[in-house]
Amino acid sequence: MNTTLNQIPETEPQRQFYYMNLAKELLSKKEKELGRKLTFHVTTFGCQMNARDSEKLVGILESIGYEESDEEDSDFVIYNTCTVRDNANQKVYGRLGYLNGFKKKNPEMKIALCGCMMQEESVIEKIKKSYSFVDLIFGTHNIYKFAELVCRMLTSKKMVIDVWQSTDKIVEELPTERKYAFKSGVNIMFGCNNFCSYCIVPYVRGRERSRQPKDIIKEIETLVCDGVVEVMLLGQNVNSYGKNLEEPVTFSELLEEVCKIEGLQRVRFMTSHPKDLSDDLIRVMKENKKICRHMHLPLQSGSSRLLQDMNRHYDKEKYLSLVAKLREAMPDIAITTDIIVGYPEETEEDFLETMDVAEKVEFNSAFTFIYSPRTGTPAAEKKQIPEEITKDRFQRLLRVVQEKGQKKTAEMTGNVEEVLVEQVNEHDDTLVTGRCDNNTLVHFKGDASLIGQIVSVKLTECKGFYFMGELV
Ligand code: 5AD
Ligand code: SF4
Repeated sequence: MNTTLNQIPETEPQRQFYYMNLAKELLSKKEKELGRKLTFHVTTFGCQMNARDSEKLVGILESIGYEESDEEDSDFVIYNTCTVRDNANQKVYGRLGYLNGFKKKNPEMKIALCGCMMQEESVIEKIKKSYSFVDLIFGTHNIYKFAELVCRMLTSKKMVIDVWQSTDKIVEELPTERKYAFKSGVNIMFGCNNFCSYCIVPYVRGRERSRQPKDIIKEIETLVCDGVVEVMLLGQNVNSYGKNLEEPVTFSELLEEVCKIEGLQRVRFMTSHPKDLSDDLIRVMKENKKICRHMHLPLQSGSSRLLQDMNRHYDKEKYLSLVAKLREAMPDIAITTDIIVGYPEETEEDFLETMDVAEKVEFNSAFTFIYSPRTGTPAAEKKQIPEEITKDRFQRLLRVVQEKGQKKTAEMTGNVEEVLVEQVNEHDDTLVTGRCDNNTLVHFKGDASLIGQIVSVKLTECKGFYFMGELV
């Protein structure tokens, strides 16, 4: 294709298809010069949303003509970053130093940084100053422009930086690549409006924007035609899906529509906010066997006083009553959670309330986090808890969640469960690994031909948080 400046389309996604073609030309010229293919590697930090964004990056890179490599000494390395806790940022800085070593050996190497961390001004300043070998920086709002940014990077000698403060745009129909052939994440909304006092997400991901139901359904139908049997509907707070659409739709209405898609066998979703979890959602889950028996319901704290300070809009009793309702409707449902320890001004009494909820609920599993102050959030301005106290509480909580998680998991021993086989076991290739409907992992004898299939497996031996099983 002969691309000249005056042909650049202004509308999306056509504009990005134009740049994909241009990048393809630039790349094949480079490949001819070097006499070899050019490779890329995407490293993802953080949550499922980032993992899905990375699949979009991979889709575009492959359509441009780069070849994926498992190694970080590729010609183009992209770090899709997370900034929800400071240790995520530190990891990126640490690994950048190591990448620079590769770059010194390979003058063709390009390095791009994107994702949540790039939405912070202080981060950009630090990279400009201390990591000037980075070639491209972009944020969370303009990831759809990746092809265009790659063209700018390939034709510029200077660091290209394009970070937007916000957007109301959702660009559909760009190519994506999937990590697994049989399952896929599907964004149903972007951003978050909740402003929990500790959380940086609303600042780096922007205001809540829901995709149109017809676009979501169309994407899932296409995925199913392509062999996908399980989808994970993704959003920071899926329970408030659709509220900002011109014709409002609820999350449970969307779920009912998704369940009608023929050939789709399993539907998961993440993350639910307790304040917006409706009775209607519980009813729809109960009535639709395609919806997996798993609810990830972040607690954050068991102290009603702290929950109020965190701006969570529920209290301990409300949370416990939601759990009771879910279990009453679906006795086999797995409930998992996120908990923060050491939130500013957390007293021993507050912490004991959290322990009490963990004891009472018996989560199947819980992600426990030490509070990490994030600049610009209200909680970061408050008096922080000494580290020794936080660490001690963290260990105490970990003991309870592990003990209860193992107890809850063991209750499934002897069950015959439907298991979606995901991969050959990483440590023993006579075994395959799959997930039960409620997300519990199970390993059993089998080979690669089972991957992507849903099979019946007897859970014979509980190994803490996972099972050994037998195909039945
Ligand atoms: N410090 C520690 N944990 C946090 N989370 C969000 N912000 C912070 C923070 N500043 C946790 C919450 C959330 C999960 C994704 O990360 O528990 O649910
Ligand atoms: Fe952060 Fe709260 Fe939004 Fe979750 S709901 S992303 S914790 S602000």
